[in-house]
Amino acid sequence: MSEVIPEPRTAGDDTAGRGTAQDAVPLLELVDVRAGYGAIEVLHGVNLALKPGSLLALLGPNGGGKSTTMRVCAGLHPPTGGELRFAGRKVNGISAQDAARLGVCSIPEGRGIFPNLTVRENLWAATGTGARLEDLEEKAYARFPILDERRHQLAGSMSGGEQQMLALSRALGTDPAVLLLDELSMGLAPMIVSRMYETVAELVEGGLSVLVAEQFARAVLPIADTAALMLHGRVVAAGPPGEIEDRLSSDYLGG
Ligand SMILES: Nc1ncnc2c1ncn2[C@@H]1O[C@H](COP(=O)(O)OP(=O)(O)OP(=O)(O)O)[C@@H](O)[C@H]1O
Ligand SMILES: [Mg+2]
Repeated sequence: MSEVIPEPRTAGDDTAGRGTAQDAVPLLELVDVRAGYGAIEVLHGVNLALKPGSLLALLGPNGGGKSTTMRVCAGLHPPTGGELRFAGRKVNGISAQDAARLGVCSIPEGRGIFPNLTVRENLWAATGTGARLEDLEEKAYARFPILDERRHQLAGSMSGGEQQMLALSRALGTDPAVLLLDELSMGLAPMIVSRMYETVAELVEGGLSVLVAEQFARAVLPIADTAALMLHGRVVAAGPPGEIEDRLSSDYLGG
């Protein structure tokens, strides 16, 4: 299988993406990134580029390395080789706090909310970066009115969809430039997944750059600007969603 690596960006390149800054340096870029757990390498040279104001879907079957890639991007897992770049600057070894300060925000697999806190307390816990609770609540409840009704409910007792809405509201409270979303669809009914991705698409329209890891390609391909297929720790193809969809065998295409 030949590797298709995203080309370095050149002036006038307008092949993908709805963002306006088509000539811009990728906000987030992985160049030949290697990473692993102990002595076992699981990323064997990953190449990815997230353009400003676009949505990049990272697809592929279980164990391919999607979550590990997301953790590397979030500063939660150090690369052992290659380069992690934010806005063109090499930041290998960056801490999660510093990545957050640069505007990178992540919703991990499993949502990363506090189940024993209420909705409101969960939003409050996201004010650490300087956001005001009132602003966070106002935005969250406007976007997802159900969270308003649930504001005093323990997050862990809510439905999966409601929990994902809370996770998204918490993440957006920090006003990030880059959002990393790992398996948004996990455990959710297809209708809820569509609803969540509609919200994500609106955020991208508003200028946010989003990297989504998804096993279920069908959920995210319709709103993606670019897609990348990850197999066995490598991105084996990247390009327009239609092209990548053609490369996904029915084995890899979820849904
Ligand atoms: N904490 C860990 N310790 C050891 N190995 C790990 C750890 N996390 C992941 N791995 C291994 O790294 C490889 C890549 O896993 P990763 O979770 O990145 O894949 P994924 O593409 O996100 O899979 P999925 O679609 O199931 O979420 C797998 O072989 C996995 O077993
Ligand atoms: Mg995963």
